[in-house]
Amino acid sequence: MSGYTITTDDRIVTLTLKVARVNAINAEFATALSNGFDAARAVEGVRGVIITSGHRDFCVGADINMIFPLRDPEAVYAQCRDLNALLRKIETSGVPVVAALNGSALGGGYELALACHHRVAINSGRLMIGLPEVSLGLIPGAGGTQRLPYVIGLQPAMEHMAAGQPVRAPKAARMGMIDALADDADDLIARATAWINDNPSPTQPWDQKKPKWPGGARPKTPQAMQLFVGASAFLYKKTAGAMAAPEAVLRAVYEGTQLSFDRGLEVESRLFARLATGDQSKDMIRTLWFHRTAAEKVGVGLEHHVSKVTVLGAGMMGAGLGFLSAKAGCEVVLKDIQAEQLDAAREHCAKQARRLRHLDAEAQDAILNRITYTLENEPIRGSDLVIEAIVENLDVKHRVIREVEPLLAEGAIFASNTSAIPIARLAEASQHKDRFIGLHFFSPVEKMPLLEVIQPPDCSDETLHRALAFGKAIKKTNIVVNDGYGFYTTRLFSAYILEGCQLLAEGHDPAVLEYAARSAGMAMPPLKVFDEVTLTLGVHAFETRETITGEGFDLAGLDLVRKLVDLGRTGKSAGKGFYDWDTRTLWSGLRDLVTAEPPAETGLEHLQRRLMIAQIAEVGRVLADGIIRDHKDVEIGAIFGLGFAPNTGGPLAWIDRQGIRPLVAEMQQLAEDYGDRYAPSQTFIDMAERGERFWDPT
Ligand SMILES: NC(=O)c1ccc[n+]([C@@H]2O[C@H](COP(=O)([O-])OP(=O)(O)OC[C@H]3O[C@@H](n4cnc5c(N)ncnc54)[C@H](O)[C@@H]3O)[C@@H](O)[C@H]2O)c1
Repeated sequence: MSGYTITTDDRIVTLTLKVARVNAINAEFATALSNGFDAARAVEGVRGVIITSGHRDFCVGADINMIFPLRDPEAVYAQCRDLNALLRKIETSGVPVVAALNGSALGGGYELALACHHRVAINSGRLMIGLPEVSLGLIPGAGGTQRLPYVIGLQPAMEHMAAGQPVRAPKAARMGMIDALADDADDLIARATAWINDNPSPTQPWDQKKPKWPGGARPKTPQAMQLFVGASAFLYKKTAGAMAAPEAVLRAVYEGTQLSFDRGLEVESRLFARLATGDQSKDMIRTLWFHRTAAEKVGVGLEHHVSKVTVLGAGMMGAGLGFLSAKAGCEVVLKDIQAEQLDAAREHCAKQARRLRHLDAEAQDAILNRITYTLENEPIRGSDLVIEAIVENLDVKHRVIREVEPLLAEGAIFASNTSAIPIARLAEASQHKDRFIGLHFFSPVEKMPLLEVIQPPDCSDETLHRALAFGKAIKKTNIVVNDGYGFYTTRLFSAYILEGCQLLAEGHDPAVLEYAARSAGMAMPPLKVFDEVTLTLGVHAFETRETITGEGFDLAGLDLVRKLVDLGRTGKSAGKGFYDWDTRTLWSGLRDLVTAEPPAETGLEHLQRRLMIAQIAEVGRVLADGIIRDHKDVEIGAIFGLGFAPNTGGPLAWIDRQGIRPLVAEMQQLAEDYGDRYAPSQTFIDMAERGERFWDPT
């Protein structure tokens, strides 16, 4: 299989690449591209080459299966160099080359497009364009960091590559990442052909003596220097130094402005090789690529048999759940006991619908028209699925379950979105325990990708499968766990915020504490995120936990939170908590609330270890309690549900990197010094004795 075909029309050659199942950049693809281009170039009197794809997507970027095992930076560097030589050959061959993007062009696929003189894409929101490498701990390695600044400007290029968020084709055109949009496949080739006719001998901007600059700061000017200083500061503020890849993006772009184009490519290749063979990208690729892809398939191919959904409670969670269900095509009843909550939910849904810019007003209205807002029980009748999202109170939830269940359709599923109450405890009020399940969503519901599905022992597999199918229908990534107080994610989250409070109460500096969390890679520092969820809810949750599990807390950290609540500092929604939210700074009065003497042992590293290990210890207990069914879900749940440090690949990958033996010893020492919450569970102790790991070494 050559992996390409060429056709010629009036001496313009269309090179169609179709390698394996998708065009992903590996040795086979590079050979097809090289041979295909040579064949195109060899056509008698050729006037130009159009590169397109025979697959649905143009090219989806590097073959991750190929990159994952690589550990030799020199070998990776050599591969980058060869690929760059090929792209240089294409852009300097003396004929115009146009990328005709019939589908998405991502990573190396878009870098190939950048090495063409002109880029046309079909005008469809389905087409994604861009350089997302940083999301796997990598940077573009085929010239992206060197070419994109010439195409869209220094600042937009750095922003795009450091964020790693691909954009839809229409937006890519607005940003200048592609030059033109075509109506369909025929128009795509027609436009590419027309451009070649009009531009018989183009030169890439980076090969021109005085290229036209796309706008913004020009390299080697004081403005550019200012831009680089500002960009580094901005990035550092965002990532606190935890993410290697975005920093490497800035470095590659900066060096590129100081060096010749070909030397710039070498710098990029060196940086790419170092990242691609380093620990951070290995851990990120394992979780954010392999595990995530597997998790995204959970529920695919199953049927939910749900056409009417009732969401009980139209509050923060319920409104979003109602909207998502309607968007998935279900008839929705949104039931509350307060009219003003229904009004707010109606407004929320309307706002969400208007955000769906790919839909016209009629389609947006169709979604909204599927939702009924009600204070009554009668409209619930005949629902196939109930998602309960009312107040977190066992008795109230029991009463509502008894009230609503008789109204449901034959075979209906009752799901609770409780944050923590064991599903089996809630199901005590149900007549149909086989159809009672936990569907734990995360706030804001429309944005957070995770759905933690909790299957208690009495819940049938059929119910589980239907629930998973529904999760997919509303575009969530499902993880499945066993039942128990706080399931998995709430336990991990509680351990994190409680540890923040506890360290504060011990007298550690709150600013250093918050920074320690961020520099470990946590998306949100513990005190700030506690303010976000509101302290009253937290206190209520810890009290509920005591009532339900019988496990008391005797932690100074929790007393400190109660003191804040007594002062009316209940969190972000009140404008004040650990933070003063008008200035978004830590409250200066915090230190006065702490009675403890400043601790002898403190500092960034100390705090970072304790924040991470407190969470890891809880993961150990969750494992020992049999909550987890699949180790992959520990990583996916932590990162996508809670914003656990993605640079680590998740809690289990973090443990593997530390080595379980030294880690268990450290946990035992911390437990002795500071309390049982750091103690390693028996699962960890056994693993340490056997010298086991969670994931195969890479
Ligand atoms: N907020 C979160 O981040 C989050 C995340 C996951 C799960 N949860 C869980 O979801 C549930 C709801 O949380 P929320 O944050 O949306 O709360 P909320 O206070 O914003 O909304 C609760 C709504 O339920 C209504 N309600 C109370 N009793 C009712 C009844 N008998 N029938 C119908 N409606 C009733 C209230 O009027 C209110 O509108 C809780 O169990 C909570 O633990 C919350």
